Amino acid sequence: MEVVIVPDAKAGGALIAEAIAALLSRKPDALLGVATGSTPLPVYEALAARVRSGALDASRARICQLDEYVGLPADHPESYRSTVLRQVVEPLGLTESSFMGPDGNAEDVQGACDAYDRALAEAGGVDLQLLGIGTDGHIGFNEPCSSLASRTRIKTLTEQTRQDNARFFAGIDEVPHHVITQGIGTILEARHLVLLATGAGKAEAVARSVEGPVSALVPASALQLHPHATVVVDEAAASRLKLADYFRATYAAKPAWQGL
Ligand code: F6R
Repeated sequence: MEVVIVPDAKAGGALIAEAIAALLSRKPDALLGVATGSTPLPVYEALAARVRSGALDASRARICQLDEYVGLPADHPESYRSTVLRQVVEPLGLTESSFMGPDGNAEDVQGACDAYDRALAEAGGVDLQLLGIGTDGHIGFNEPCSSLASRTRIKTLTEQTRQDNARFFAGIDEVPHHVITQGIGTILEARHLVLLATGAGKAEAVARSVEGPVSALVPASALQLHPHATVVVDEAAASRLKLADYFRATYAAKPAWQGL
């Protein structure tokens, strides 16, 4: 995988927004998989700024969700549907018709998961999947020991992830215990995976994912199996990488026209 070390989160957001803009200029109706949480916000802000300035026409882009809480009403402000509509779909000038996600309130949860996997395939597959990483190495909500071949399904959040996400709710008791998440096998089907990690709190998870063995214990290590995976990290999140200097030199020597 390619590891790109940037000075800070804003620079990471700008770099990934540039890659998404390049993708949309090649393929205006590209299917973009988006993550929620704090990390991707600089990407969405940079993309929205490009749209506002007229530098980017995202009007034909399609957006799909990575995961969703189970049992949270779809219009709850912290449902991932509401979050993606607010942070991505609306700022890019898109409508709900360009957006797809799993139904976290379906009576038949596994049926909804299977339907979502089918819908992604029928949409032609995800062109670029943006990922964050949990402090425990999760991607989407594939918590440690998730099958590396898993498909979209219901998962139970670890206490650590519920604590990490409690900041979005009135308290930890309000954080749902269950989520629907694209499986690791589903995520690996996207044509380009772009993982952004920022802050020292992610340094250990990044090092284990990039330089450790591929292991279900560290779900993000599955990116090592993907032919086009890019890991963008700020200096703090890169601080535990043994090969940081090599990654810097490799990226510095890369022709600019190649993009991510
Ligand atoms: C959320 C998701 C999660 C987050 C991860 C990091 O859609 O996929 O894997 O990316 O929990 O969250 P933040 O960015 O808030 O640290």
